Amino acid sequence: MLAKTNSCTLLGIEGYAVEVEVDISLGLPEFHLVGLPDTAVREAKDRVRAAIKNSGFTFPSQRITVNLAPADIRKEGSMFDLAIAMGILAASGEISQDKLNGLFFLGELSLDGSLRSVNGILPLASSLNPKECRHLFVPAANAVEAALANNVSVFGVDSLTDLVLFCKGEKELVPVDVKRTDQLALGKKSNYSEDFADVRGQESAKRALEIAAAGNHNVLLYGPPGSGKTMLARRLSTILPSMSLEESLEVTKIYSVAGLLPSDSPLIMERPFRSPHHSATAAGIVGGGRIPRPGEVSLAHNGVLFLDEFPEYSRQVLETLRQPLEDKIVTITRANASISYPCNFTLVAAMNPCPCGNYGNPFKECSCTPTQIKKYNQKASGPLVDRIDLQIEVPSLEIDKINKLSRGEPSAVIRSRVEDCRRLQRERYKGTATTANGNMNAQQLKKYCSLSKDAEKLLFSAFKHYGLSMRGRTKLLKVARTIADLEGETKICSHHIGEAIHYRCLDKHF
Ligand SMILES: Nc1ncnc2c1ncn2[C@@H]1O[C@H](COP(=O)(O)OP(=O)(O)OP(=O)(O)O)[C@@H](O)[C@H]1O
Ligand SMILES: [Mg+2]
Repeated sequence: MLAKTNSCTLLGIEGYAVEVEVDISLGLPEFHLVGLPDTAVREAKDRVRAAIKNSGFTFPSQRITVNLAPADIRKEGSMFDLAIAMGILAASGEISQDKLNGLFFLGELSLDGSLRSVNGILPLASSLNPKECRHLFVPAANAVEAALANNVSVFGVDSLTDLVLFCKGEKELVPVDVKRTDQLALGKKSNYSEDFADVRGQESAKRALEIAAAGNHNVLLYGPPGSGKTMLARRLSTILPSMSLEESLEVTKIYSVAGLLPSDSPLIMERPFRSPHHSATAAGIVGGGRIPRPGEVSLAHNGVLFLDEFPEYSRQVLETLRQPLEDKIVTITRANASISYPCNFTLVAAMNPCPCGNYGNPFKECSCTPTQIKKYNQKASGPLVDRIDLQIEVPSLEIDKINKLSRGEPSAVIRSRVEDCRRLQRERYKGTATTANGNMNAQQLKKYCSLSKDAEKLLFSAFKHYGLSMRGRTKLLKVARTIADLEGETKICSHHIGEAIHYRCLDKHF
């Protein structure tokens, strides 16, 4: 007998519907699974057999063939277990096929028939078409996450027995309240454990980070050890505008695929902050593996990617960052599939002025030779630093001075200014792919960065004095645009250019 059930599979963060066809025919007891399954899917045979038996149903001792269609998409993971088990029970006459039409099943079975949670439920559920899917059945632990997709009715199930009894009309199951998504969104409050108020002094660095947040600019923090670079960088995500529900869902999908969602709060509401160690490989940073997983750049999507001790990263890692920084999307190609993950992040790099860290420090002597200093700075030069808009010097503060300084402005106050500035930019770039000044294209640069006469003169002299490259000039203009926007000025004046020049002061080092 033939039976059909429905499930879905993931390619990157895109889900695709999969039809599970089960045929039971006379012959020696065999179990074949076809349709480009990977190892975890092939192992479903053993799990499903044990789960059906241990749930008190009869496992047919005939020839069973399971086909996962379409056969040209690679199926991975253990989420097909439930659909395969339901298909076998329908084909063996335990459940009527009519009851299964329009139902989708996702979930891993344990040998006793209970359901285990699986990764990627949100993108899987989001991909379902409500016209084809009447109800979606997922493990109870994944139910709220699936309901966030807000497109189909979702049931959380504890065991195979419960689901069979429900399909037979002998047990009642209640769908998850999909309105919960809105409640989650409404009650959403970013709850960062860090705050800018903790940083004493360092006003100029804080101002620069405010500009970076307001215009989505990449940042390089440059200063001696212990001056507060890491402390400042960690607080950048607290002043970025709070995420919209769409942004939260985008981030949640990536974390769901990576299996990094916290089980108690499936919707990620805080902007991510990722700080991979400098020993990270290129695959760890941009994503990879036989079946490509999202890398650090994608896990930092809509948030901050922090590269501490920047010159210590391998040249290959820094080179691989160039393309994702430009395109905001990373595509990983393998023999059987090409998978794309979004990666729109703000890059924050931090470095010391020299290997020992004390070069230029008035309180400590530097023990490096000029050659060592040159070599260290050279490592950080090149195409990646070229993509950084703001170079911020973070000087070392004396301990007695730090204690005398009062607490700084809280993140919430800075964030409200940043949000006003972002609103202005959204209005300006409406209908284009640009979201903030940092991502302006050449035409927009020409259109929105007209300078007053004085500003033009100042820019020209800076160009000569610092030997700025054309790319450096473009970056300077973008930053000046953001500074003017923070003031609510439509025209870029000389003091905006003046401040922007201040953030290119390290060009001479590289
Ligand atoms: N401006 C400041 N206000 C309050 N605390 C500070 C400040 N600067 C530094 N600190 C304290 O010093 C500690 C060390 O700072 P942090 O780790 O950010 O330094 P760093 O510049 O990243 O050093 P390294 O180059 O060694 O990585 C912080 O955890 C914080 O407690
Ligand atoms: Mg540090």
